[in-house]
Amino acid sequence: MRSAIVLAAGKGTRMKSTLCKVMHPVMNKPMIGHIVDRLKEAGVSRIVVVVGHGAESVKTYLHDSVEYTLQEPQLGTGHAVMQANMLKDTDGDTIILCGDGPCIQTETIQKVFEANKDHACTVVTAVLEDGKRYGRIVRNEQGFVEKIVEAKDCSSEELAIKEINTGIFCFKNKVLFENLSEIKNENAQQEYYLTDMVEILQSKDEVVNALTVSDVDELMGVNDRLDLAKANAWMKHHINTKHMLNGVTIIDPEHTYIDVDVQIKEDTTIYPNVYIQGNTVIGSGVTILPNSFLKDAVIEDGVTIDSSKIVDSTVGTHTSVGPMSHLRNHTVVAQDCRIGNFVEFKNTNFGSGSKCAHLTYIGDSDVGKKVNFGCGVVTVNYDGKHKHRTTVKDGAFIGSNVNLIAPVIIGENALLAAGSTITQSVKAGDMGIARSHQEIKKGYGTKYKNK
Ligand code: UD1
Ligand code: CA
Repeated sequence: MRSAIVLAAGKGTRMKSTLCKVMHPVMNKPMIGHIVDRLKEAGVSRIVVVVGHGAESVKTYLHDSVEYTLQEPQLGTGHAVMQANMLKDTDGDTIILCGDGPCIQTETIQKVFEANKDHACTVVTAVLEDGKRYGRIVRNEQGFVEKIVEAKDCSSEELAIKEINTGIFCFKNKVLFENLSEIKNENAQQEYYLTDMVEILQSKDEVVNALTVSDVDELMGVNDRLDLAKANAWMKHHINTKHMLNGVTIIDPEHTYIDVDVQIKEDTTIYPNVYIQGNTVIGSGVTILPNSFLKDAVIEDGVTIDSSKIVDSTVGTHTSVGPMSHLRNHTVVAQDCRIGNFVEFKNTNFGSGSKCAHLTYIGDSDVGKKVNFGCGVVTVNYDGKHKHRTTVKDGAFIGSNVNLIAPVIIGENALLAAGSTITQSVKAGDMGIARSHQEIKKGYGTKYKNK
C-alpha cells in the first residue's frame, strides 16, 4: 500500500503574506492542490496533510479529498511527521513531501516508491552548483547516505557538498513510526528534524538509499515570491510542452498561459497572450487569436476566438467569436454562429446559424436557429429588482438598435423594425415596430447653421 504525508503546517514567513504558503497559486492552482492531484494520479491511497498555519484555508480548499492532522505548535519537519500517527499501523511505503514543492510530477513519485522497494528509507537528492539553504547529503564509503546536515548546522567543508536534500523521503511505514520518537531537537534551530532519521536508521544497521534526480527544478521548494515566479515559469513551460507534443501549435510558449487541468485536442493554434484557465476543454482545429481569456469554457472543433473573454460557457463547432466579445454565466452558443465585435452574452442559449455581429447585449435569453441580430440590440432583462427572460424563435430578424424589454417572446420569422423599443410579444411572421414617425422641416438645417 502507498501512503503519503504532505508537510504543510509552516507559516512561510519569507512569502510575507496573509495567505499561508501552500495556498499560494502556481498557474492558478494552490501549490498543495498540484501535489495532491499528482499523488492521486500516482495511485497513493492515503494522503495525510499536516496543517497548522492557515489550516482552515487548506481544509476548505482540499475538503474531504485527503486526511488532516494538526501540528500545533510547529516544531520542525520531524515533529510534523509525528502528528501523522494515524498511519502508524499501515503496511507498505510512505512518501513524505513538502507542501511547498508544487512541480513534482506523477512519474517522479512513482520512481521514488520503486527506488524504496528493497530499502527502509530513500532520500531524494539533487546535485546543485550552489547548495544554498538546502540540507547537505553526507555519503559513506559504500555510497549510502550517512547523514543529512542542515545548512545552518554545516561546517565549512560540509557546506561545500553539492548534493542536497530535496525534502522528499520514502520510508517503509512501520520503520518510520517505530523510530520517529528518537528524533531530538539538539540543533541550531532547536527543531525536530526529519532528516535525523537517516542517522537513527544507520544506528539500527539499516542502509539509507538515495535517488538522485536530474531535473532539480521539478523539485524546487518555494520559500519566497522569487521562487514562486520560478515555479510558475516551470509549470507554464511544462504544460505548454505537453500540449505541443500532443499536436497543439503554440506560437509563443513564453507568452501563453494554460492551467494544468485544461484539455486541448490536436491542430488547435494558440496565439500569444492567451490565458486558458480552470477546466476548459478545447476541441481540434480551433484558432485562438491574441489577447483571449478562457475560463471553465467548452470550445468545440473549428471555432475561432479573437481577443475575447469566455467564462463558464460553451461555443459550438465552427462558430466565430470576437474581436472583443464576452460570453459568460452559462451561455451556450450552438454551431455555425457568428458573434462579432463588442458583443456580450450572459446566461443565454443561442441557436445554430444565428448571428450577432456588432455591439449587442443579450442576457437571460433563449434564441432559436438562424436568428439575425442587427447592431446595438439590447435585451433589457433587469428591472432593478428581478431578472426576466427574452425568447426569440427561429428565423426572427431583429433590426439594429432594438430594445427588448423582458419578459417578451418574439415568434418564428418575426421582424422587429430598427430602433424599436419592444414591450409586447410579437407573433410568428408579424412585424413589431415601435418608434415615432419622422417629420421633415424644410430648409431648417441651413437656417440653423447660419444662425
Ligand atoms: C527542509 C529540509 C532540508 C531540505 C529542504 C528542501 C529538514 C529539517 N530540512 O528544509 O534538508 O533541503 O527542506 O526544501 O527537514 N513544516 C511543517 N511543520 C514544521 C516545519 C515545517 O509542516 O514544523 C513544513 C513546511 O510547511 C514546509 C516543509 O515542511 O512545507 C519544509 O519546511 P521548511 O521550513 O521550508 O524546511 P527547509 O528549511 O526548507
Ligand atoms: Ca522549504
